Amino acid sequence: MIDEQQLLRTIEALVQPGKGILAADESLPTISKRLKAVGVESTEEARRAYRSLLLGTAGIGDYLSGVILFEETLGQRSDDGTPLPELLQRQGIVPGIKVDKGTADLAQAPGDKITRGLDWLEDRLAGYREQGARFTKWRDVYRIGPDNPSRLAIEANAEVLARYAAVAQEQGFVPIVEPEVLLDGDHDIQRCAEVTEAVLQAVFEALHRHRILLEGMLLKPNMVLPGKDSGQQASPQQVAEATLRVFRRVVPAAVPSINFLSGGQTPEQATANLDAMSRLRDRTHPWELSFSYARALQHPAMDIWAGRPENAAAAQRAFLKRCRLTAAARRGEYRPEMENEAD
Ligand code: 13P
Repeated sequence: MIDEQQLLRTIEALVQPGKGILAADESLPTISKRLKAVGVESTEEARRAYRSLLLGTAGIGDYLSGVILFEETLGQRSDDGTPLPELLQRQGIVPGIKVDKGTADLAQAPGDKITRGLDWLEDRLAGYREQGARFTKWRDVYRIGPDNPSRLAIEANAEVLARYAAVAQEQGFVPIVEPEVLLDGDHDIQRCAEVTEAVLQAVFEALHRHRILLEGMLLKPNMVLPGKDSGQQASPQQVAEATLRVFRRVVPAAVPSINFLSGGQTPEQATANLDAMSRLRDRTHPWELSFSYARALQHPAMDIWAGRPENAAAAQRAFLKRCRLTAAARRGEYRPEMENEAD
C-alpha cells in the first residue's frame, strides 16, 4: 500500500513556482571525469569539498526546491560539520537520492543499454530515508542509431523504470522517472521526436501496469533536439514546439511536473530552450515545466573552482547566477542579455 498523502506532501515541496531541481548525483565514474577535466583528482575529500561548496551557496533556496544527491554525499558533512542533507533542509530544499546503479549492455540487443539496481532496492531505501532523502531518481538511457533503440530495449527499460517507481512509492519516496534519449548521434530533430515519443509511450504503459500514482511522481525527460553530430541547429522556438508536441501526446495530465535534464546542451542553450517552452505554454498544458539540470547548472562553477579553495566564492557566485537564470527561464522571464549582467 502506498501512503498517498505522504507522497503529495513531497510533491508540494518539490513543485513550486519559479523553482526547480539541481542534479548533483553524478556517479563515481562521472564525477571523476568531470573533476579530471578541471585538473582535480577524484578523491572522497575532493568530491566532498566540491559538493559542499555547491550546496552551501547562500540563496539557492530561492531557486531550487530539491537536490538529487549521490549515495556518498548523503553521508558527508560540510566544513563546519553539518550533514549535507541538513544544509539543504535549512534552505527549504528537499534532499533526494539517485538509486540506480548505472547501465550495462542489454543482452541480445546490440547497441542498447539496460539500467541496473533493482535488487535489494527496498532495503537500501530504508537507510536513505533515515539520512533525510525524500525522493529518488532512476535514469534509463537510449542511444539513437539506425537500429537503436530496439523494441526490446524500449520495453525492457520501461519495465525496469516502472518497477523502480513502484518500489519507491511504496517506501514513501516520490520517484523521478528519467528516460533519457541521448543527444549523441547525427539524427535530425524529427527522429529524436519519434524515438522520444515511443520511449515515453512505453514508459507510461509500464507505469500504469505497475500501478504508479501519477500524481506522486515527476518525469525527467530529454528535450527534443537534433543530434549533436547532425550539423543542425534548432532554435529555442523549434525545440519548444517539437518537445511539447510529443509530450502533449504521451504524458498524462495527472503528472504534476516535467523537469527536463540538460543532456549536454550548453547552460545558455538549456536555459533558452526551457524559457521558450515556458513562454509557449498556451495554458492548455496540464503540467508544470521545470528543470532538473546537472551540467547546465554546475559547469561554470566547476570550471572556476578547479579545486582551489581561493576560488570558492567566485564559483558560488557563478552557480547562484545559473540557478537564478534557469529559474527565470522556468517562469518564461529569461533574456539572453541577462548572461552579461553582473552577478
Ligand atoms: P544533465 O542535466 O547534465 O543531463 O544531468 C541530468 C541528470 O541527472 C542525468 O541523469
